[in-house]
Amino acid sequence: MNLMDMMTTSNHTLKGRDVLTWLDFNQTDISQLLARAQDLKENKHNSTLNGKTLGMIFEKSSTRTRVSFEVGMVQMGGHALYLNTRDIQIGRGETIADTARVLSGYVDAIMYRTTSHEKLTELAEHASIPVINGLCDIYHPCQALADVFTILELKGRLSGVKVVYIGDGNNVAHSLMVLSAMMGMEVVVAAPTGYQPDPGIVKKAQQVAEENNGSVKVETDPSIAVQGADVIYTDVWTSMGQEEEAKERLTALADYQVNEELLRIAKDDVHFLHCLPAHREEEVTASVIDGPHSAVFQQAENRLHVQKAILQSVIGTPNS
Ligand code: CP
Ligand code: NVA
Repeated sequence: MNLMDMMTTSNHTLKGRDVLTWLDFNQTDISQLLARAQDLKENKHNSTLNGKTLGMIFEKSSTRTRVSFEVGMVQMGGHALYLNTRDIQIGRGETIADTARVLSGYVDAIMYRTTSHEKLTELAEHASIPVINGLCDIYHPCQALADVFTILELKGRLSGVKVVYIGDGNNVAHSLMVLSAMMGMEVVVAAPTGYQPDPGIVKKAQQVAEENNGSVKVETDPSIAVQGADVIYTDVWTSMGQEEEAKERLTALADYQVNEELLRIAKDDVHFLHCLPAHREEEVTASVIDGPHSAVFQQAENRLHVQKAILQSVIGTPNS
């Protein structure tokens, strides 16, 4: 069954759902979201979110997430509110629970970028409307959906595709692992001791992989990991909030740079992905990220299309 058939034949609905981690979803849900994103990429404007408002709470900086969510709402007839925690009362101690209850009376969904997954689940618990994770300390689900959508565009399939994540086993790595496993892909993460993905999340991703004919492996040697890779992925070595550790991270991750030498070990037609923002000559050389294998700007654009699919699915008019 192709993606469009999946969307039109499935009775499945995601209306009202929170999107906190893809561990709460299954392969059918994701296939439906990917099909919807494909349709929305071809047909940008519609009125399925007419009169709807998204509240976007940011505790950290953002370019892609902020702009793509806001533009996505506008393209579907809705509106988005940028709420920086420096300006709203959360910054002065109003509780997350009260904020959730108050915003539930005004807006139709909340996107939250926060420092901790606990705060995100607390907001979702007390909100009567869908809550979408716009990045937290352990997950970045919207990014991962754009990643697998991009891989599908590049490879024409997901099942059996080998994706290798090199570097810091962070929020981006966790969501990529879970979602790729769910879509039947072969995932390998190469990271040094102390920077490997959370073992609990690796275990969950491995369970998901088992149910969906995928696999998840953690390696220390990047040159072994990238053998036969269809996709090589990396992210910054110092995530937002870890700035004090920047120096030791530079040393610990120095052997995990994605460069041309590493690319040569992978398949000839390997694709390079990065969630961005990137630090050239740290986690990736300029020759790779700006070179012929890189699809990072296609990937960044796809944030818009997949997030529109999420929004339309969880808060769109009943028939959308
Ligand atoms: N990739 C990503 O989430 O980018 P921003 O931090 O710019 O939103
Ligand atoms: N791992 C990075 C991703 C930024 C989009 C961070 O959390 O800062």
